[in-house]
Amino acid sequence: MNTVLPLLESPPRTLQLPDSAREGLTRTPFGLYVHVPFCATRCGYCDFNTYTADELGPGASRAEYAGTAIAELRQAAETLGPDLPTVSTVFVGGGTPTLLPADDLAAVLAEVRRLFPVADGVEVTTEANPETVTPASLATLRAAGFTRISLGMQSAAEHVLAVLDRRHTPGRAVEAAGEARAAGFEHVNLDLIYGTPGETDADWSASLDAVLAAPVDHVSAYALIVEEGTRLARRIDRGELPVPDDDVLADRYEQADATLRAAGFDWYEVSNWATSGAARCRHNELYWANANWWGVGPGAHSHVGGLRWWNVKHPAAHAGRLLRGESPVQDTELLDDDDRALETVMLGLRLREGLPLTALSEAGRARAADAVVRGLLEPAAHAAGRAVLTDRGRLLADALVRDLTD
Ligand SMILES: C[S@@+](CC[C@H](N)C(=O)[O-])C[C@H]1O[C@@H](n2cnc3c(N)ncnc32)[C@H](O)[C@@H]1O
Ligand code: SF4
Repeated sequence: MNTVLPLLESPPRTLQLPDSAREGLTRTPFGLYVHVPFCATRCGYCDFNTYTADELGPGASRAEYAGTAIAELRQAAETLGPDLPTVSTVFVGGGTPTLLPADDLAAVLAEVRRLFPVADGVEVTTEANPETVTPASLATLRAAGFTRISLGMQSAAEHVLAVLDRRHTPGRAVEAAGEARAAGFEHVNLDLIYGTPGETDADWSASLDAVLAAPVDHVSAYALIVEEGTRLARRIDRGELPVPDDDVLADRYEQADATLRAAGFDWYEVSNWATSGAARCRHNELYWANANWWGVGPGAHSHVGGLRWWNVKHPAAHAGRLLRGESPVQDTELLDDDDRALETVMLGLRLREGLPLTALSEAGRARAADAVVRGLLEPAAHAAGRAVLTDRGRLLADALVRDLTD
């Protein structure tokens, strides 16, 4: 199945792209992801690769991080060149990117522009925690070229935010969305989580209403996932909190879809709604289309033309490699046709456009016909040769992906 390339048995000075991955490089949409692995405190449900000041230890610091990211961007340009792809999207995520001074994020973006050709109308997103932005920092980010901001709101209920260990008040996310619009951000997203233990139907309604009262053109709503090894999982194991209930999660999803739809938001991926095509997150669309992206930062994943790789996870190991002029890549895998077909189905089925039935195996196509009978795939789209989720299919999207790809 997956081939681990021998070229990375010991860390090379730079990653070498095989010719097969280089093919199509300048014709395929290309994005840059910059991971910022710092948070002020860790939310009890989150297992992302992020570190509080206490957890970080020596060898990496927030103050030096922009320099580290810039060093990796330079390696990226060297590896991908001489015919560099045009950057169509940049996404700075985390962790909490906005724990870094806005000038540091601006410096990283300026280096992207110095190193790479950048598309007219490039989408430049940063994630942010509501309590870490101010009108002044937002103005700096906007002036530097950031066009989109994604704020983690999660809930409008104070007791839900407390279970999630969030540090902001319910109102702060809505306020920050307004400040971002006032600063000139073209696109503003709020992230919500549903199904938190103790959340009531009324809490979820209030969260949706609060989002709709904010000046946003995009909403992401995720079911709470209980990740192993988190404080939330330990509290559930000890019986302090109940496990999120599947029926409740399905009800919450349906309520979100109905409320958002009535307010002019349409789903374009199972967990994402936007007010128009222009308001969709183009960077995420690039992932879902299995296009090319380079992920900068500790633990960041990349994909170029069927070659996938991922960086060493700890910020100190990542910074150390770059300081020594070595690649931060931990490992690579070359996807074969079967892997790529599987990815296409996993990502494509969750999209509103769905995917062509020809992307499925023969067995997958037979199961797709059965899914139409079960009300999970749209009959008209199926007759026209596509697998497109029905409303009920969206509730069971993960199970259906497994069914169609087994
Ligand atoms: C990893 S965060 C990074 C951005 C920022 N630090 C924040 O919290 O908004 C991106 C999104 O992933 C969501 N997320 C993280 N862990 C999750 C989980 N276990 N279940 C559902 N959503 C999760 C967060 O709530 C957040 O909205
Ligand atoms: S602030 Fe965001 S990235 Fe940091 S721990 Fe919380 S959810 Fe995870």
